[in-house]
Amino acid sequence: MSRPRIFIDREEIARKVAVLAARIRADYEGKNPVLIGALKGSFVFMSDLVRALDMPLAVDFISVSSYGNGRESCGEVQLIQDLKGPVQGRDVLVVEDIIDTGLTLACILENLKKKGAASVKVCALLDKPSRRRVPVHIDYIGFTVPDRFIVGYGLDFNEGYRYLPDVCLLEDDC
Ligand code: PRP
Repeated sequence: MSRPRIFIDREEIARKVAVLAARIRADYEGKNPVLIGALKGSFVFMSDLVRALDMPLAVDFISVSSYGNGRESCGEVQLIQDLKGPVQGRDVLVVEDIIDTGLTLACILENLKKKGAASVKVCALLDKPSRRRVPVHIDYIGFTVPDRFIVGYGLDFNEGYRYLPDVCLLEDDC
């Protein structure tokens, strides 16, 4: 494989990030939320989003994997790196690059529920609803995408392509 082809270019992503940030800033006015990035894919979106938000907030990260090796299980997904800080009583915004089956997000939400967050919302740059296996609510969605193999802007194929500045399709999938 495969030369990636641009699907959503960097300018369109930047415009969407600004729109999402404006909505989130308005909804969290006067609050000091904790943004939780789901590793690894969300790291690019997360970094653009927090700078677009330009408001008081904290960041933390969580890592779950469908491949196991974890300490704690949420069905088919394993928690492999928990949050560093407490979220009890905090307003939490989970930041994801993409929601596919929903299993990763469901695991993260279950984890946060146990920790006693005051509120939990979800922001995903990309939503692929045709692949959903468990119902999950997403409060802020950037783009709804078809069931194609997407890489770039943090998303990988075998750990490659995360560095691409645009959201791309792998050529074999075009
Ligand atoms: C991707 C993405 C989401 C998850 C969504 O992560 O970053 O976290 O898949 O898929 P789901 O809705 O089917 O659970 P991945 O497990 O590929 O790990 P990565 O972020 O490290 O690439």
